[in-house]
Amino acid sequence: MADIHSSLMPFLRMLPPEASHRLAISALKWGLGPRDRSPDDPVLATSVWGLDFRNPVGLAAGFDKGAEVPDAMMAAGFGFAEAGTVTPLPQPGNARPRLFRLSADQAVINRFGFNSDGLEPFVRRISQRRRGAGPFGANIGRNKSSSNGAADYETCIEAVTPHVDFIVINISSPNTPGLRAMQEPEALSRLLASAVAARNRAAAGCGRQPPLVTKISPDLAGNELEELADVALDAGVDGLTVVNTTVARPGGMSDPGRHEAGGLSGAPLFPMAIDAVGRVYGRTQGRIPIIGSGGIASGAEAYTMIRAGASLIQFYTAMVFHGPGLVRQIKSDLARHLQRDGFAAVADAVGTDAGRKRPPARPDAPRPEEASGTRIPVPAFAGAVAAHYPGEGAEAHP
Ligand SMILES: Cc1cc2nc3c(=O)[nH]c(=O)nc-3n(C[C@H](O)[C@H](O)[C@H](O)COP(=O)(O)O)c2cc1C
Repeated sequence: MADIHSSLMPFLRMLPPEASHRLAISALKWGLGPRDRSPDDPVLATSVWGLDFRNPVGLAAGFDKGAEVPDAMMAAGFGFAEAGTVTPLPQPGNARPRLFRLSADQAVINRFGFNSDGLEPFVRRISQRRRGAGPFGANIGRNKSSSNGAADYETCIEAVTPHVDFIVINISSPNTPGLRAMQEPEALSRLLASAVAARNRAAAGCGRQPPLVTKISPDLAGNELEELADVALDAGVDGLTVVNTTVARPGGMSDPGRHEAGGLSGAPLFPMAIDAVGRVYGRTQGRIPIIGSGGIASGAEAYTMIRAGASLIQFYTAMVFHGPGLVRQIKSDLARHLQRDGFAAVADAVGTDAGRKRPPARPDAPRPEEASGTRIPVPAFAGAVAAHYPGEGAEAHP
């Protein structure tokens, strides 16, 4: 595997970012992904919505938009995985280039605009996935050309319900015109009511009732975040993913790519994500589980997110820079933090910083590879993922 990795790397680094990502997905399909064979520390086990998670560290949406590699990602050690965003009909998304690696900021900007193979192949693939490794969710969206967004979400919900453990309603991508308008209270209330009804109809037909989760933006002004949490609770939604990518460009970023339009993810998003999770938890007080997402790259950051109020956490961008070996590193560091502070289980730590002084935006703890003094091992797949965007000296997007 190391040989495949070494020989592929120079080639992968020369590819445009999206082509590298495609190759990463192909490598996973070929079985070249990493396998985390060691059992997770029991302190990481948790239960949310009555579902058992062997660890709370998940793969965020967008990496596996078409549900092509759910089994490979679970084998890499994630406690749960989310595929999508899928739209009812196939659509190409925005023109390329639409994906930018900001190495200096440990960040990514994307403006994919829901490129999707559509529901039909997505459902076929998820119906064939291996069960049992951990909860698996579908993230759903609307077609750009659709005149009835709510109907698109209903169509997706009815199609995926028999095959998934949870469903994420994505109304927070910044890259589909008008999508974020669906976060306005009245529109959201109507949308979520129709989504819950669609899920209940589908559940009656198949005997499975996956929880419905709403994924929200970090770019809400004033107390819109709190209002949105209220609407979700009233509508009977089961969870909130906090947060999606941001259109903001936080101060201190230096990579020339920061001026690209699109949604920013990775390290600069972390303080916004912690703030949003803390606020949503403060409002909901544990009545609705939160999946924390945004800039997590270490066990210390996962722990901070959990203490701010997240029952589960997800990441994507850090994997681009550190490879999928990071999953294992985050899990073991998170277990260490929980044990150090005397928590017997993840659930006991959830929201423990709520109501107190906000936890530090970025913990002082060193990055995992600095802590150990060694580089995280990079298997073949990691090379493909790391080359998902061009490396130093090969920037396609200055
Ligand atoms: C290239 C890329 C594509 C993404 N596509 C989606 C998507 O299709 N649907 C979605 O809900 N979130 C998408 N996201 C957002 C991630 O799921 C995640 O919420 C966000 O990136 C913050 O986490 P991170 O900083 O760990 O990446 C995407 C992120 C990236 C970097």
